[in-house]
This record gives sequence, C-alpha cells and structure tokens, in this order.
Amino acid sequence: MTFQQQIKQGIPATLPAAKPYPKDANRAPKRKDVLSLAEKQLAIRNALRYFPTQWHAELAAEFAQELNDFGRIYMYRFKPDYAIKARPISEYPAKCQQAAAIMLMIDNNLDPAVAQHPEELITYGGNGAVFQNWAQYRLTMQYLSEMDADQTLHMYSGHPMGLFPSSPEAPRVVVTNGMMIPNYSKPDDWERFNALGVTQYGQMTAGSYMYIGPQGIVHGTTITVMNAFRKVLAKGDTPKGKIFLTAGLGGMSGAQPKAGNIANCITVCAEVNAKAAIKRHQQGWVDELIDSLPALIARVKQAQAQQEVVSIAYIGNVVEVWEAFDEHDIFVHLGSDQTSLHNPWSGGYYPVGVSYDEANRLIREQPELFKAKVQDTLKRHAAIVNKHTAKGTYFFDYGNAFLLEASRAGGDVMANNGIDFKYPSYVQDILGPMCFDYGFGPFRWVCTSGDPADLDKTDAMAAQVLQRIMAEAPEEIQQQMQDNISWILEAKQNKLVVGSQARILYADAQGRAEIALAFNDAIARGEIGPVVLGRDHHDVSGTDSPYRETSNIYDGSRFTADMAIHNVIGDSFRGATWVSIHNGGGVGWGEVINGGFGMLLDGSADAERRLRSMLFFDVNNGIARRSWARNSEANFAIQREMARTPKLKVTLAHQVADDIIAQLPLA
Ligand SMILES: NC(=O)c1ccc[n+]([C@@H]2O[C@H](COP(=O)([O-])OP(=O)(O)OC[C@H]3O[C@@H](n4cnc5c(N)ncnc54)[C@H](O)[C@@H]3O)[C@@H](O)[C@H]2O)c1
Repeated sequence: MTFQQQIKQGIPATLPAAKPYPKDANRAPKRKDVLSLAEKQLAIRNALRYFPTQWHAELAAEFAQELNDFGRIYMYRFKPDYAIKARPISEYPAKCQQAAAIMLMIDNNLDPAVAQHPEELITYGGNGAVFQNWAQYRLTMQYLSEMDADQTLHMYSGHPMGLFPSSPEAPRVVVTNGMMIPNYSKPDDWERFNALGVTQYGQMTAGSYMYIGPQGIVHGTTITVMNAFRKVLAKGDTPKGKIFLTAGLGGMSGAQPKAGNIANCITVCAEVNAKAAIKRHQQGWVDELIDSLPALIARVKQAQAQQEVVSIAYIGNVVEVWEAFDEHDIFVHLGSDQTSLHNPWSGGYYPVGVSYDEANRLIREQPELFKAKVQDTLKRHAAIVNKHTAKGTYFFDYGNAFLLEASRAGGDVMANNGIDFKYPSYVQDILGPMCFDYGFGPFRWVCTSGDPADLDKTDAMAAQVLQRIMAEAPEEIQQQMQDNISWILEAKQNKLVVGSQARILYADAQGRAEIALAFNDAIARGEIGPVVLGRDHHDVSGTDSPYRETSNIYDGSRFTADMAIHNVIGDSFRGATWVSIHNGGGVGWGEVINGGFGMLLDGSADAERRLRSMLFFDVNNGIARRSWARNSEANFAIQREMARTPKLKVTLAHQVADDIIAQLPLA
C-alpha cells in the first residue's frame, strides 16, 4: 500500500500483526501506576472503542500488557509502516490544502529526527503528546484526508471527535488538550486521566502541531542572554570576554551555549550527566568539554584575557563551579540555571558531592535521602549565588523553578517582604518588558514545499520587511528590531533546521503581518510554495502562566487565564486554519493555560484578509491586557497601535499616585 492509501484507510480493515518495540528507540519513561483494578478495566474498555469487536479479545490482552509495562496504552501495533516526517504538502492525500498542511505539521511533530519519544507519540518535554495512541493518529489523518473546506475537525486531547459541518471561514481543526474541571488539575490527576485514555498533556507546541525542533529555544535563549547583558553592561560595552554561568545541557537547556556564542560571550555551562554534555559537544552545540575544576579555571581566565567568544561545558555539578569561581575571583556577569527543577526529586536536579551514578541509585533506593541531599545542595547553591550577586553578578531565574524550589528547601532567596524572590524571572526583567509588552514574540513559519530554497527566499523577504519597518520605528523598539534583523540574516548559517523547513523570528504585530503579506504575495506570484504561519504558545497573548509568561503582570490578574482563552476564541473567528488551547506546558499541569494557532497562506486574497485580521488580534489582545495591568511599555505599544488603527479602541488604565494609596486608613 502507498503512503496515501495507508492514510486514507485509517484503522486498517484487517488486524495488523503485533510489532516488536524498535531496539534503538528512545522510550518514554514508565508512567506511575495510579489506576485501581476497576480503572484499569475502564482504560482497556476505552482503548477498545476504536476497534471492531472481533479484535477485542486479542487486543485486550495486549493493551493490558502495555498498561502494566508502560503505565499507558500506546497501541504500538497500529503505528503505520511508512516513514513519518514532514513531506512536501503535495504528497498528502487531501481534498483541501489546509487539511494537507495540518497533516504535514502533525507528521513533523512525530518525525523520529524531531520527536523525543516518537513511539509513544511524545514530541518534547517528556510528556508533550501529539496523540495518546496510534489509533488516534490514524483516524485523525483519515479525517483530514476526507475533509472538505466547509468542515471542522474537533480534537479532544488527541481524540478526533469527528468532522462537523462549518464554513470555509471557520478553522479546519479545533484542538483542546488537558482541559479539566479546575479541581481535577493536579499532577496526579494527569497521571490518572491520561492512563484512562481521556486526556493528554499537549505541552505547548506538541499537541498543537507547531514544534520546530531546537531552533525555537535557541532564538528565545539568545534574545534573553543578549538583553540580560544589555541590562548590566554600560552603554557601548559588549559581552565579549564576559561570563555567562549556568547549568544544564539537556533538551532545552542545551541551547544555552549556542545562544551564548551568538550573543558573543564566554558561556560556562555545568552538566552532571557526562553523556548529555558529550552529546551536545558532538552536535556542535558547545565548543569545549572540561571535566576538572583547575582546568576550567585556567581556560576561563585565558578566554577572559583574550576576549574570546567560546562556550565551555563543565562535566560536574554547577554548585562546584559557582564556588570555585568565587574562590578564584572570577567575576560572573550573568548567572542563571536551567536544571529541571520543575522535577526536583526524580533526577531533574542533582546534589553536589555525590557521583551521577550514585545519585541515580539514591533516587531508586533511598528517595528520602536523595531529597535531603537535593535540599542541602539547593541551600548551598542559593548561598553561593548570593555571594556572587553581592559582588555585582546579575542572576535571573530561567523558568525552571530554581527560586521556587530553593525557597521551599529553605535557601536564602526571599526578598525582604517575605513574598517575592530576591531575583527576577527572565520574563519579569527581560522578555516581559523588553519583548512581550511591545508585542515581540516567537513568530514562526514553515515552507510546506519542503524545499530549502523556499526557506532561503522567506528569510530574505523577512529581513527586507524588517529593515523597511525599522527605518520608521520609534526609538523604544529600535533595539528589538535590530536584534531580529541580525538573527534572520544569520539564521541559515546557524544551521538550526531539523525536520520541516521552518524558521522562528521574534517580531511584533506589524512585523508579523507585513512579513506574512510579503510571503502571500510571493506565493501568488509562484515564487514559493504555500507557507504555514504559527508561533510558540510562549508569547505575548497566548499564555497565562503566573511564574513565567505572565510573571510581569502585577495587578493580581496573573492567576487568571482570560487572556489565553480570548486569544484562541478570537483567533478562531478571524481566520486561523487551526487553533489550540492547552492546560499545562512548560511549567506543569494545572500551572498554565496556553494557546496557539496555525494559518496556511496559499497566495489567495482570502489568505491576505485572514492574516491581516488574525495576526493583528493575536498580538494586540495580549498588549491590551498587559497595558491594563499598568505595564508602561504595553501602554506605549497599545496607544501607538490605536493611533494606527481607527477601529481599535481599548480601555486604558489611569495610574494612581503611590501616596494616595499609602495614606489610606486601611488595616
Ligand atoms: N525559559 C524557558 O523558555 C524554558 C524553556 C524550556 C524549558 N525551561 C525549563 O528549563 C528546565 C530544563 O529543561 P530541559 O528540557 O533542558 O531539561 P533536561 O532535564 O533535559 O535538562 C536539564 C539538565 O540539567 C542537568 N543537571 C541537573 N542538576 C544539575 C546540577 N546540579 N548541575 C549540573 N547539571 C545538572 C541534568 O543532568 C540535565 O541534563 C526545565 O525546568 C524546563 O521547564 C525553560
């Protein structure tokens, strides 16, 4: 059977043979065994709903085995035999091009070269799922192949509920992932309801079909590191010869040395897992590997003296590096941490003074002792960071819950008011006021022809558009414009494309719309094939997350999720090709609501109308909310937008003088 025929058949007419698990696959960790006997029976009953009754006896036994072995039912036997990867859009069997574009994006998220645990349909983050099982994948692709341009497919946490009549103006697909009744949204609820087969963790761009490999995190980290240096350096000074000290060379954290090189500094990144460090070195993401402190000290001093741009992986615990740099008087300009402290007790953060292997043994055999050692290390970690910051180091939390867990462990990281942390998060100090509040965020696009030449052409078009806009941009956003122009001019040589021909570029509402218009015109002229637009959910308007994306909201509303919901509903009737809204992603189940969109540009007048309307709202919704929260940068941005857009009228906040509040007779 051809690839097209296999897609069109959905669930096969005859039961495929059971498959051995591929030997070299990176298997997802065994999930917690949380279901009661009755719930396990229910999980198997739920899984069998996808199949004809005559297969049930055989499949029930196999699914029971999967549930016992892996804690989930993935239905490995139903994984298609063709190679899953983003193919040129013309290869997908579809009645409408929008549906074919979505198929391409789904396949990219499951490509073994892109996805973390492809057999378990996990794209990234350990649990970021595209689907819960292979039956859902097959059915979804079949529905997309049958879909007309006036139908909408509704996706419930990976399950395709079905095609419903709609209109060509409606999204072709509406995705929800992990939406729960709020009282049932604790981490163990995810374990339970995911094991039952009724919900999934979509992360941000996994369950929304918008993942583009490591390029996204490299760009975001570069923007963060460059702007952090700007905060601390005198005007005119450069990051050359200055040190950025951090930890983690894992999935996302591995972007740090690459970003440090692009930002032109000396990056020292500690990693306890030698395998992870060696892998990043082999991939060219970090320049040098060092495994002894004396060698590290000597090398760093040399790099400082010669003003080198270099990234160094130290194989060992980050606390040792902070302490050694203090002892040897090495001044750290920027400090951060990207160990996995959202997961402190199961290997996200390793204690100092214990070998990596011994620590892993403790996790399995003496979890309480491991926990105590982690807490001691966190206290020591906080103390040595404090010593450096007293000397002038700028330290920021990089969205990995370092400050939260250090405070819980009793580390000295609380501010004098006992409520806030001593140090800012990267969104509070950097991305929030410098990017999100002005509307700059991780816009991205995918060339659906699969032709690298198309990507080159779009890069050049985007650079031209930004240069034109920059010539007339106000002083407040000149720096961001320049950074993004530099990024796009160098993007190709950074060799970040893995999977689909994709590009990320921080841009504001005007930049996104004008770049998209240039693409649509080029498609109409036949210069490039159709293009999918999208973005990370980690953006101006897409995500409500009180300790990350909306951590620089100070009017009390950072614990609300109205913005993300309005964003996805608003995008859906302004022309998005698909929309998605998720519980969880980045910081954890129950901790965030995030949403996004995908939009196909096909060169038509309809596509032009849609992109103008939707991209405008997609960014300005968040700026309006940030402005209402009294963020001055957002206030500037929304007033500028209102001056340019007659039909836009948002409610502006009046600033209250501090002394009026201070003198009130409140107890
Ligand atoms: N700010 C952002 O935009 C952003 C984006 C993605 C992820 N994150 C957060 O960053 C964290 C890291 O993500 P990841 O995908 O890289 O996780 P990961 O688990 O793949 O990598 C973390 C690495 O830290 C290493 N490590 C742990 N303790 C250490 C120690 N004491 N010293 C030195 N190395 C140590 C681990 O061995 C591991 O390789 C997560 O908490 C994640 O939620 C933030």
